[in-house]
Amino acid sequence: MFSAPQVYLAPMEGVVDHLMRDMLTRLGGFDYCITEFVRVVEQLLPAKSYYRICPELHNNAKTPSGIPVRVQLLGQHPQWLAENAARAVDLGSPGIDLNFGCPAKTVNKSKGGAVLLKTPETLYEIVSAVREAVPAEHTVSAKIRLGFDDKSLALENADAIQQAGANLLTVHARTKVEGYKPPAYWDWIAKIRGAIDIPIIANGEIWTASDALACQQQSNTPHLMVGRGALALPNLGACIKHGQAPMQWHEVKQLLIDYSGYEIFGNKGKYYPNRIKQWLGYMKRQYPEAEQLFNDIHRLQSANDIVKVLSV
Ligand SMILES: Cc1cc2nc3c(=O)[nH]c(=O)nc-3n(C[C@H](O)[C@H](O)[C@H](O)COP(=O)(O)O)c2cc1C
Repeated sequence: MFSAPQVYLAPMEGVVDHLMRDMLTRLGGFDYCITEFVRVVEQLLPAKSYYRICPELHNNAKTPSGIPVRVQLLGQHPQWLAENAARAVDLGSPGIDLNFGCPAKTVNKSKGGAVLLKTPETLYEIVSAVREAVPAEHTVSAKIRLGFDDKSLALENADAIQQAGANLLTVHARTKVEGYKPPAYWDWIAKIRGAIDIPIIANGEIWTASDALACQQQSNTPHLMVGRGALALPNLGACIKHGQAPMQWHEVKQLLIDYSGYEIFGNKGKYYPNRIKQWLGYMKRQYPEAEQLFNDIHRLQSANDIVKVLSV
């Protein structure tokens, strides 16, 4: 399916929206993005729900720098997921990603996410229904964790997803119960890789280019997905893909100023103060300067005041 190693930008609800995808993909190195999840309950969602999560659908489902974006669905009802998958693809999404990893609690009596990892047969039913609804030339991918409470069903779940016709599987190498606590068990991805034939994308705890290499070796797959690492180090994709040096702080600061312009003048201005603080929270891991900047702005509520501090 892939002729070269792929680097995916991870879906992150409330964090990686179209503006963040634009910022990060402009820095190079990323081959593909997945949207934040669209929650599917018992309804065919209107087109506007898809355009809101994935405005790139207006641009051939590509970021301004030309990187494709696939819509992710979260839910438990095979038929509703299938109908919504068909709609998202009709609107231009290059296939569908199914979220079987989200740890969020039940909403509106709808399960969805990691709880489905307890029942491989449900994964099978969902992926089969979605596969049937999506034209064969489009990818159906799934994103899983290693399990819910433990890893005993990891191989069976992956097999169910493959048997149901998925083309691609992303594995976040921890169980739901393990949350985000390091380490990620990349060696478990190698076990899954040994059990199925479809390409696997390894995910979890990749913060640097050397983590990426270690993950590729331990998981025995060349394909990677990075989430928090790309927020901490914005050019992580290019560091992994092209051996670029990590961005210097002055470059990162310019990026934050550019981002501020987009956020404030885009339609998300009201979220800006929280978004920039959230991003700095991730950056603290890579840049000590981000911690100072965070302290300088964390009491400020107005976008203008924050931009003034950033621009000093
Ligand atoms: C704030 C936040 C939001 C997330 N939202 C989603 C989501 O919408 N869909 C999904 O499949 N995974 C979601 N994830 C999981 C990430 O895609 C990824 O699997 C996880 O962060 C591990 O990768 P990382 O160590 O590279 O961050 C989210 C993670 C975080 C921290």
